[in-house]
Amino acid sequence: MDPVRRQYESYPYPERDPADEGARLIEGSPSHPVEIDHFLYQGRRDWSRPFRALVAGGGTGDGLIMLAVKLADIGCPAEITYLDMSQASRAVAEARAQARGLGSIRFVTGDLLTAPEFGPFDYIDCCGVLHHLADPDAGFRALAQALAPGGGIGLMVYAPYGRTGVYPLQAAFGRLLRDDPPEDRVRLARQVLDGLPESNWFPRNPLLGDHRASDAGLYDLLLHSRDRPYTVAELGGALERAGLGAVSFLEPGRYDPLRYLPRDPGLAARVKALEPLERAALAEQLAGNMKTHIVYAGRPGEGGEAQPGRLQAVPHLKGVAPAALARQVATKGGVSIDTDGLGYAIELPRAAAPLIGAIDGARSLGEIATAAGLDWLAFGAAWGPVHRGLCGFNLLHYSQGARR
Ligand SMILES: C[S@@+](CC[C@H](N)C(=O)[O-])C[C@H]1O[C@@H](n2cnc3c(N)ncnc32)[C@H](O)[C@@H]1O
Repeated sequence: MDPVRRQYESYPYPERDPADEGARLIEGSPSHPVEIDHFLYQGRRDWSRPFRALVAGGGTGDGLIMLAVKLADIGCPAEITYLDMSQASRAVAEARAQARGLGSIRFVTGDLLTAPEFGPFDYIDCCGVLHHLADPDAGFRALAQALAPGGGIGLMVYAPYGRTGVYPLQAAFGRLLRDDPPEDRVRLARQVLDGLPESNWFPRNPLLGDHRASDAGLYDLLLHSRDRPYTVAELGGALERAGLGAVSFLEPGRYDPLRYLPRDPGLAARVKALEPLERAALAEQLAGNMKTHIVYAGRPGEGGEAQPGRLQAVPHLKGVAPAALARQVATKGGVSIDTDGLGYAIELPRAAAPLIGAIDGARSLGEIATAAGLDWLAFGAAWGPVHRGLCGFNLLHYSQGARR
């Protein structure tokens, strides 16, 4: 059996218990319908129309369940296809869907390269999969071929610098434990980890913790037989070879090199002269803390990201209550967030606090402007920094029909 398949039959990842479905919904990026709308459909998709989605390498079902639940919540006539080569992972994902009474999912056990046979799709989720393929370019191509016109993809691939220490250990464990059965490899790897010298980069990297969470986490992080991380530049190249282009990396603000450089007009001018992908590549090199890249991508010239200049655009906040955020902006003039060991300050004008407080996922920008007594021009001036600051950290999206 293919060693990657053998791994996911023994250790479905991430480890999930279908009994937990009654207690919580796991949400993340990519693939929340509000995000899909924002990044791929300009925030204007009509969700009463059918939506065909593929969750490629769906694993134990995190992205699948979130997508299916959120689409059911808004009454979208969705057809979702789950495709994974691991039967053990599918059993977990299927049990989770059953626990929630989700009927919109077709489960397929098979190779991601067969994706076009089940399409076309308006959206494809593919998280943590392409970097494990023997020929990742063939995987990128298969997903691109499975896309309907105007459709888009939400991807996550591993990134090298934030995973500093992982790859030498993967190679060492490959050399040392190659012929052992999976359970023995886990036991022996834990023994080796406990005795690693202080000089090894792995225990020195504070960003890595999956190995402590579960055996499946340890296996995925350190015992993988096929795992190639992507720099921004490499990911951009893989997308381009498949006829796709990045719409946005998440969080966009983390991919702005100016965040990591001293304020200096000369340096800023050099950054400005770079192409968008080169800028993102520079940010990755300077930040050093990116463990993954999450990117929305589509065919160049199709769909694309929502813009703030529309009266009908409906803003949604992610993971923060509008009133609480408005209070913080009014008192502190911004917010700060911590991601992968680094704090990022988001400056927001105090005067914009009432506008932020008016976001409820239903009112349009035009309605918020009218309620605030601002004409469209004055509103645009006040809203611009809110849009840039919050979209920059994936805290604000636009969708006329989807809900958080
Ligand atoms: C790290 S898990 C990620 C699961 C899920 N996407 C998530 O984010 O939670 C990778 C999954 O990809 C599947 N996979 C790897 N290579 C595949 C291939 N060539 N075809 C189909 N599935 C594959 C594995 O079986 C595994 O379930």
